[in-house]
Amino acid sequence: MTTKGNRDYRPFLHYTPPYGWTNDPNGLVYEDGTWHLFAQHYPDDTHWGPMHWRHAVSDDLLHWKDLGIALYPDEVLGLIFSGSGVIDAGNTSGLGVARDPMVLMYTHAGRTCQQQSIAFSEDRVHFTPYAGNPVIKSDKVNFRDPKVFKNPVLNCWSVAISADDRMEFYASDDLIHWRKTGEFGVEEDRLGGVFECPDLFPLTAPDGSEVWVLIASNGMPAPFGGFRMQYFLGQFDGYTFRETLPSPRPRILDSGYDDYAAVTYYGADRRLMTGWAESIVYGSDGPTGEFCGLMTFVRELTLKDVGGDLRLAMEPVVPAHDMAPAPAGEPVAINLRQKLPHAQGALPGELFHVRVEAEGAFQLTLSNDAGEALVVTLSNEQNLVVDRSRAGARDFNPLFASGLYSVMTAPRHTYGPATLDLYFDRMIAEAYLDGGTVVNTSIVFPEQPYTRASLLGKGTLSIGAMPE
Ligand code: FRU
Repeated sequence: MTTKGNRDYRPFLHYTPPYGWTNDPNGLVYEDGTWHLFAQHYPDDTHWGPMHWRHAVSDDLLHWKDLGIALYPDEVLGLIFSGSGVIDAGNTSGLGVARDPMVLMYTHAGRTCQQQSIAFSEDRVHFTPYAGNPVIKSDKVNFRDPKVFKNPVLNCWSVAISADDRMEFYASDDLIHWRKTGEFGVEEDRLGGVFECPDLFPLTAPDGSEVWVLIASNGMPAPFGGFRMQYFLGQFDGYTFRETLPSPRPRILDSGYDDYAAVTYYGADRRLMTGWAESIVYGSDGPTGEFCGLMTFVRELTLKDVGGDLRLAMEPVVPAHDMAPAPAGEPVAINLRQKLPHAQGALPGELFHVRVEAEGAFQLTLSNDAGEALVVTLSNEQNLVVDRSRAGARDFNPLFASGLYSVMTAPRHTYGPATLDLYFDRMIAEAYLDGGTVVNTSIVFPEQPYTRASLLGKGTLSIGAMPE
């Protein structure tokens, strides 16, 4: 097992594996007060390797109890790639004996092809691979990441599967026998690369109408583009998804490089999503020691109207905490003509929330005595800019250290007063602008904790400690 670095960067409230490597969240299921999280996992080292599913549970989406490895590679069918889970209410699969089973659907990644398989459990801890696997056979090289959901139109199960340059949809009455019902994306993809990790679900728009959201992760060759997520807005007719609200530019879910393969929970009464908060481009070189990989905060998704355009907004589930205003200080002279108001406050340790309520453009800086600084700006041009070029250790990987991966810019598409909520947990900064209509998730490795927050611009700064 590789060990790296000498600071403990393990976040308090973000899921991490006890040791080894983790990438995508898998099998997100809520049942009777328990949130299940499975994760792509390689237990033997802190880089990507033969994939297993690791399992953890939580009752608050913040603190996770490790339940070990749920699924192991199969000698014949292959590694256990990403997928999803459901509670098979009514035992449609017939795989339950004493109780409705939890059914996981995942990709068996073989040497020459990827196929879909299932496993089931009554105790929700031990999972038995179905004897008739795979349940969707294929000879395709890229055919993976099944996301199962209840089909409200045909009143059956459906699954979305990424298949190279498209998403495919299948339906089933029993989670075992599947028939293809449609496909989407060849014309509509605005990013390129291979589609991965689909998700498809309805949300209610501000005008009360139902809009279906299709999430796609796009694995594009690094360095340019990297690995990004886009979403499409439209309708699902029970057979396929159609984009009825096209956008001239890609709709990007998260403007940071550290949110990928995000999918939502099955069984919750809200639409809750989490993503892998690291990039395959540089993730395994990071200085986190015995573990590598973490999940974003779990976020509630809603549709919001931004300047006449419908946008997916994300707001995190965080523990209750108080906020205190940081004092307004003397104006800071920027140049001979202009003096900007400023506020400054001490940060409470390594887990905190900073809020900026600004009249317009502003700059927020988190810094420490080592001269490191993470800088978040709302520019005059109304771009959210996150700059981690001086935020901490970066030389562990040339791309992480490059300008391309250090400064991230996302358009706001509106004007006027702005609110920024920035949550920090040891090595991860999650920035939510205007109620999460623009989001940036970025990992950083300060050599000492940040101790100060300072705000430049017209507005207020408040700071809160979040309980561990
Ligand atoms: C996305 C992904 C998935 C695949 C898994 C393998 O990060 O490439 O498409 O199932 O990771 O670990």
